Amino acid sequence: MKVLIIGSEGMLGHDLVDILSCENEVKTTTIDTLDITNIDKTIEIVKEINPDVVVHTAAFTDVDGSEANPDLAYKVNALGTRNVAVACKETDSAMVYICTDYVFDGLKGTSYYEYDQTNPLSVYGKTKHIGEVFIRDNLNKFYIVRSSWLYGIHGPNFITTMLNLAENNKQISVVNDQIGSPTYTVDLSKAIAKLIKKPVFGIYHITNSDSCSWYEFAREIFEIAGIEVELTPVTTEEFPRPAPRPKFSVLENYNWKLEGFPEIQSYKTAMRQYMKLL
Ligand SMILES: NC(=O)c1ccc[n+]([C@@H]2O[C@H](COP(=O)([O-])OP(=O)(O)OC[C@H]3O[C@@H](n4cnc5c(N)ncnc54)[C@H](OP(=O)(O)O)[C@@H]3O)[C@@H](O)[C@H]2O)c1
Repeated sequence: MKVLIIGSEGMLGHDLVDILSCENEVKTTTIDTLDITNIDKTIEIVKEINPDVVVHTAAFTDVDGSEANPDLAYKVNALGTRNVAVACKETDSAMVYICTDYVFDGLKGTSYYEYDQTNPLSVYGKTKHIGEVFIRDNLNKFYIVRSSWLYGIHGPNFITTMLNLAENNKQISVVNDQIGSPTYTVDLSKAIAKLIKKPVFGIYHITNSDSCSWYEFAREIFEIAGIEVELTPVTTEEFPRPAPRPKFSVLENYNWKLEGFPEIQSYKTAMRQYMKLL
């Protein structure tokens, strides 16, 4: 298949290029070659490439920055996604959209299924959610893939942040009342490679298995790295950030399992594989 990856220079984008290239003819665009906020250019480039599948991984991903720049976040995450969807309609390409656990408010208290009610708390979550709505309004052939707490070798992430902090701090405070599933970009990319082989269109939750708080995640990171640091669990209220975040946003990989795809490995195994590369 011919696959176009939009946002190929991002953390996930890099791994998607590597993994999807094994079995597909892959074309890429970056913000320098295609700014998705330009609808004419988006249509022109997608038409020129005429792909079977477009994997749209570009986004304004600064969750706290989105609170200060809501127009930019909306322009890129909502309207940019609309533009990609409209372009896919012109070429009859299937579209993969990478979305987020932040479309939920976290109040359910147990894992979220794909059909659960969305209610984003933050500007980032709202703009990503409207991206989903634009896709559903415009396309029949789409895979909306919600994932969470991404880390990978091609971008700064929570693991690298913790390791950098430990270089200059004996004590680190990490929030212990937000629960989610850390997800390795390689595992997510492999899952997307499997998904696009079948016309099983719809919404998917795709994360590594098992869940933890940010504090538990940090504890695991330092244990694997063999670094001794005084780690203090704190509440969200004690560690205020500009953007509100869901307290419990574990995503049940329900549709994925029902379609017969294999369970995705635990985040504990995945993070060991990733940390060997550092
Ligand atoms: N990171 C997470 O924890 C997480 C969790 C769930 C879902 N997601 C979603 O997963 C996807 C990939 O995330 P990521 O962490 O790999 O993000 P990332 O590293 O920030 O990559 C996003 C890419 O999009 C590009 N971009 C920004 N504005 C653009 C525009 N107007 N036109 C074209 N490209 C543009 C960025 O370019 P510049 O760097 O030059 O701005 C960057 O290369 C995103 O859709 C994100 O919303 C992320």
